[in-house]
Amino acid sequence: MAKSADYSLGPAVFPRGWFIVAESSELDSGPLAVRFFGQDFALYRGESGIPVMLDAYCAHMGTHIAASTSAMIVQNGKQIEGDSIRCPYHGWRYGPDGQLNDIPYHDGPCPKSAALKSWPVRDVMGCVMMWHDPEGGEPDYEPPCLQEWDDPTWVRWELDHLGEIEIHGQEILDNMADAQHLGPTHGAPCEYFENEIDGHLCIQRQGGFHQGYDAMLTTTTWYTGPGILLSKQEFGEVLTFELIANTPVDDGVSKVWHAALAQAQTVPHSEEDIANAKDIQAGALQAFAADFDVWRHKRSAIRIMQMPNDGPFKMVRKWFAQFYDLRENAGKYLDEAAGVYHVPSLEVPDAAARELEIGLFGR
Ligand code: FES
Ligand SMILES: [Fe+2]
Repeated sequence: MAKSADYSLGPAVFPRGWFIVAESSELDSGPLAVRFFGQDFALYRGESGIPVMLDAYCAHMGTHIAASTSAMIVQNGKQIEGDSIRCPYHGWRYGPDGQLNDIPYHDGPCPKSAALKSWPVRDVMGCVMMWHDPEGGEPDYEPPCLQEWDDPTWVRWELDHLGEIEIHGQEILDNMADAQHLGPTHGAPCEYFENEIDGHLCIQRQGGFHQGYDAMLTTTTWYTGPGILLSKQEFGEVLTFELIANTPVDDGVSKVWHAALAQAQTVPHSEEDIANAKDIQAGALQAFAADFDVWRHKRSAIRIMQMPNDGPFKMVRKWFAQFYDLRENAGKYLDEAAGVYHVPSLEVPDAAARELEIGLFGR
């Protein structure tokens, strides 16, 4: 599998941005040991309800603070105190800021050097999202959040956990520029197509007749940073939102989640609404599975044999590369990549297609 350096991404091996690291409900049953960005982390929910993400290994003797299920302190449900967590080995206690705040058998102050790094996390749309930053900085922007998530006329999703796949995020993101796979892969050859690159956003607008739905499918899809895709989709009378998230686990290995939001007929939701939402998510997953299947079996495309009507792969790759460089250099990539791109053989979205995105990505 190809790695970041193979795609000339760098100097960082892993990108800057918001990434899904768990489904929120996974934290209800206690701390979680997770691995992303080539590192181990402890993820837990404090008693106040906030999610907390700390580097995994205790300063005392290197125990993974979230990986034990058999230590008595874990079995007795005593590991979380307030928003702090105790190491299962000798009970040292760390706060949500990563500071060591208690050693059960020591009266003096706790050594400052024992602190674990605490990573910015948010609970958004049923997902725990983490700000990963090789420079260790604060988030440059907030993670994306659909207002429909808090709208009772929409049925909330549960994530499809698609697991790890041996493919670099670069090739997942190539999909944004890939105008010509929509027919062969998804059965919906696009009639119009456009990409727009703006700061940390990469947007795709496309539409075409969908074989399976027997209707025109119109979509506006956007990545907020390199790890979180949202897509607003309209076919016939049906409006949905899709989520696809990819988080690096190791260099060249990605973990992937999927979900869809659907509209309800009644509030509170009827069983039929819930079944319908599940059907819509399953249908969207089936479409996405076609991409996933290609990614699972393809060789790496370090270079793309670009045809004029393929779509602007080069610009989307340039946009993606900004997240692997220092933030002070991001402008250098955007100087080249920012803008609106069309495919010569395809139409440009008309005003009706653009109406779909009013209110999305803060516009
Ligand atoms: S190893 Fe964590 S408290 Fe000793
Ligand atoms: Fe696709």
